[in-house]
Amino acid sequence: MNGSIPELPLTVVIFGASGDLTARKLVPSLYRLYVKGRLPTNLQIVGVSRTPLSHHEFCQRMERSVREFANKEWSPEIWATFSKTIFYTPGDGASDGGLTNLEKFLVEREAPSKGGARLYYFSVSPELYEGILKRLDSAGFLEEQSAEKWRRLVVEKPFGKNLESAKTLNLAMGRYLREDQIYRIDHYLAKENVQNLLVFRFANTIFEPLWNHSYIDHVQLTVAESVLVGNRGDYYDQAGVIRDMFQNHLLQVLTVMTMEAPSKYSADLLRNEKVKVLEAITIPTVEEASNQIALGQYQGYLEEKGVPKNSKTPTFASIKLDIDNWRWRGVPFYLRSGKGMRNRASEILIQFRCPPHLMFPLPPGSSLQCNRLAVCIQPDEGIHLNFQTKVPDQEKLVLKPADMEFTYGKAYSSFSIPESYERLLLDAILGDASLFMRSDEIERSWAIMDPFIQAYEQANGICPQSYPIGSMGPENSEALLAKTGREWIPLYAERNT
Ligand code: BG6
Repeated sequence: MNGSIPELPLTVVIFGASGDLTARKLVPSLYRLYVKGRLPTNLQIVGVSRTPLSHHEFCQRMERSVREFANKEWSPEIWATFSKTIFYTPGDGASDGGLTNLEKFLVEREAPSKGGARLYYFSVSPELYEGILKRLDSAGFLEEQSAEKWRRLVVEKPFGKNLESAKTLNLAMGRYLREDQIYRIDHYLAKENVQNLLVFRFANTIFEPLWNHSYIDHVQLTVAESVLVGNRGDYYDQAGVIRDMFQNHLLQVLTVMTMEAPSKYSADLLRNEKVKVLEAITIPTVEEASNQIALGQYQGYLEEKGVPKNSKTPTFASIKLDIDNWRWRGVPFYLRSGKGMRNRASEILIQFRCPPHLMFPLPPGSSLQCNRLAVCIQPDEGIHLNFQTKVPDQEKLVLKPADMEFTYGKAYSSFSIPESYERLLLDAILGDASLFMRSDEIERSWAIMDPFIQAYEQANGICPQSYPIGSMGPENSEALLAKTGREWIPLYAERNT
């Protein structure tokens, strides 16, 4: 990691502080960092949102959620000191004069030193970004008086709703901040086994020579969620699964799986490589995209709060992508994600090619299960290499697949897997942008996904097929793979339960 914990005071200002994310992820993650001694002692966390709340009321809300989400790190004694760092100022970043309370508060708190480093966190809708930045700028709150007194901004997804809106947002933000001050979050990048994938690939020699079209037949990336849209119907129906999961999380995991090795572990070199592989992904026409996608909507979605009765928003999608470069030419990448699925499981399944010739006789009607590597992102983070073995003491020679395994649970039983936001908040404070998306990455990701979105949003576009809650999606998802004679391989998490 690049930086170090600032010695100067640190102020974290969270916009959209009355929302779910602040209560469930941000403050519990800051609390855990505090418990681990990873935050400066001179810290203040200021929540801002339109809801009228006092410092005390906000703090009480946060206490309830930290108790619930801090797991074994909860300690009333540590909370007593941590809670002294939490403040709240009601305000509306979108209206003139809407940030007066915040301005007054910061000026008073930070006088006479004018404060130290400041991290802004936008957990608000992207339409509000520019307005808030404009007001912070007029108040002089974006000015960096020295390198230590930095100003950084973390922004949540969704970053726009298509390529055009993402470009507009990038331009607008660029009027107020340098690119290196902007940290665009994708929490999938901070999942432990996604970070580990880089180590697996580039800190070992034995896998990388196989990591290409000569040895890999195809790749399946699944992010299955058992949850439904819950109380997010309004947002979700506008977004749909492609904007909510593919443009960001699935594409980011795919880039980590397929990028070339940068010469150093540095944010810009890493992101250069990610952009290169994104640039190699073939952008289909809308017509081609329609043939490379299968869409689903879970039964009962139309009854969800905030969802119109005639909504055609997909809650499930499978898509096929091709990477047109030397390493990956001819290897199809199948990506799928959905809500209301049988289990919560995120996995990358790498199907290797079969041996060119098999000298062993197989029972009639059976075929060889060729090597597979499953990278389990969640739950039960681990890596499983499946290969053929000889069953002992049989009348005839019998083959059976077996697994060579690494799991975080067994290998690192005394460690707990941190919440992604803990890693990301710390990295933003340390100034390490490796796990954040750069403007060009975001724009290229939208360019890849836009034709898939148009394939169903255009007039007479494709309609999602309904699927029962608790299934693995609609039948057309199987049909997508059948086009190339392949099928979805059962998830590792399911094969072993
Ligand atoms: C969010 C999406 O970005 O990721 C949600 O908006 C989704 O719809 C969530 O449920 C999944 O994250 P995780 O970490 O629970 O897999």
